[in-house]
Amino acid sequence: MARIMDGRSLSDSIREKVKEDIGKLQQYGTAVGLGLLLIGEHPASRQYFLAIKKACSKVGVDTYQFKLPETASMNEIVNVVHSINSDERINGLLVLFPLPGRINARRIVNEIVPEKDIDGLGSLSVGRLAADESTLQIFKEGYIFKEGYYEMLYECRFMPTVSSFLPCTPFGVIRLLEHYGIGIKGKHAVVVGKSLAVGRPLSLMLLAKEATVTVCHRETHDLGAFTRQADLICTATGVRGLIKEDMVKEGVVVVDIGINVLDDGSIVGDVDFEPVEKKASFITPVPGGVGPVTIAMLLEKTVRSAQRSEFLKSPLMLG
Ligand SMILES: NC(=O)c1ccc[n+]([C@@H]2O[C@H](COP(=O)([O-])OP(=O)(O)OC[C@H]3O[C@@H](n4cnc5c(N)ncnc54)[C@H](OP(=O)(O)O)[C@@H]3O)[C@@H](O)[C@H]2O)c1
Repeated sequence: MARIMDGRSLSDSIREKVKEDIGKLQQYGTAVGLGLLLIGEHPASRQYFLAIKKACSKVGVDTYQFKLPETASMNEIVNVVHSINSDERINGLLVLFPLPGRINARRIVNEIVPEKDIDGLGSLSVGRLAADESTLQIFKEGYIFKEGYYEMLYECRFMPTVSSFLPCTPFGVIRLLEHYGIGIKGKHAVVVGKSLAVGRPLSLMLLAKEATVTVCHRETHDLGAFTRQADLICTATGVRGLIKEDMVKEGVVVVDIGINVLDDGSIVGDVDFEPVEKKASFITPVPGGVGPVTIAMLLEKTVRSAQRSEFLKSPLMLG
C-alpha cells in the first residue's frame, strides 16, 4: 500500500515560512504584492482567482486585481500588463487561464517582464529553464564560492541574480518529491502530458535533476508500454482513469496532477486511484496533492521576487 504524499501539510509549512519572510520585509517598510489579471468570466479562471486572493490575504500578500471584459482588445490587455511591469507595488503577475479563445495567450505572457513572470510562462523564463540557467532553484543543496572556498548552502532557492521563475505546478511537484525524500537522480521518470504550463517544464526539471525522462502525449502509441517501465510517473492530462493498475509496476511513485470535475462536483485525477495505490510506493491524492502546493509556490515566488528587488536596491539592508 502506497504512502500518501500530503500536499496540504507541505503547503501549510511553506505558507508559514512565506508569512515569516513577509514579516521581515515589512520591518523594512516593504509590502509584497501580486497582480492578478482576469480576462472574461470563465468559471475555472474565476475560481482560481478567488482561491489565490484568499491564500494571499492569509499570508499578507496584497493583491491587485485587473479585470477586463471578454471583449477587451489585445492593445488594452498589453497596456495593462505594461503598467503592472512598472508598478513598484507589484512583485509578480499571474494571468488567469483559460483566456477567451480569440486571445493569443503567448503574446500576453511574453509581455510580462521576467522579474514579474511569477509562473515562468514567458519565452525568456522558458528558455532559461531549458538552458539550465534557472534550475538552481530546484536544488535544496548547493555551493557558493566564498572567501576562496566553496561553501555548502542548504537552502539556495533565493538567487538574487537569477531573474526568472519556474512554473508553479511543476516546481510544486519537485518540492513534494523532495519533501518525501524521493530521489530523482538516475530514476526513469515518465511524464504524461507536454503542455507548456505543466508537462514540458516538469520534464526539464526532472532532467536537470538527472532522471532519465520520457515524455508521453496524446499521440503516444501504447502508453502503458512506457508507464510500466517508470520508477516515477507524473501525469497531467485531465483524462480521468488514464493511468490504470496494469500500466504501473510495483513500487512506482505516482504524482497525479490532473484535475477532473465530475457531474456531482467532486474532483478526481488522471489515475485510477484505489487499484494503483495498492501497487505504488508513494502516491498523491486528488484533491489534496499537487494542487495546494501549486498555490504555496505562487506565494513563495511572490515573496522571493519582493526579496530580490529589495536586495538589488539595498543589498546591505537584508544582508
Ligand atoms: N494540480 C494543479 O495545481 C494543476 C495545475 C495545472 C493544471 N492542472 C491539471 O492538469 C491537467 C493538465 O493541465 P494542462 O494545463 O497541462 O492541460 P493541457 O494544456 O490540456 O495539456 C494536456 C496534455 O495532456 C496530453 N493528453 C491528453 N490526452 C491524452 C491521452 N489520452 N494520453 C496521453 N496524453 C494525453 C495532451 O497531449 P497533446 O499535447 O498531444 O495534445 C497535452 O500535452 C488538467 O487536468 C489541469 O486541470 C492541475
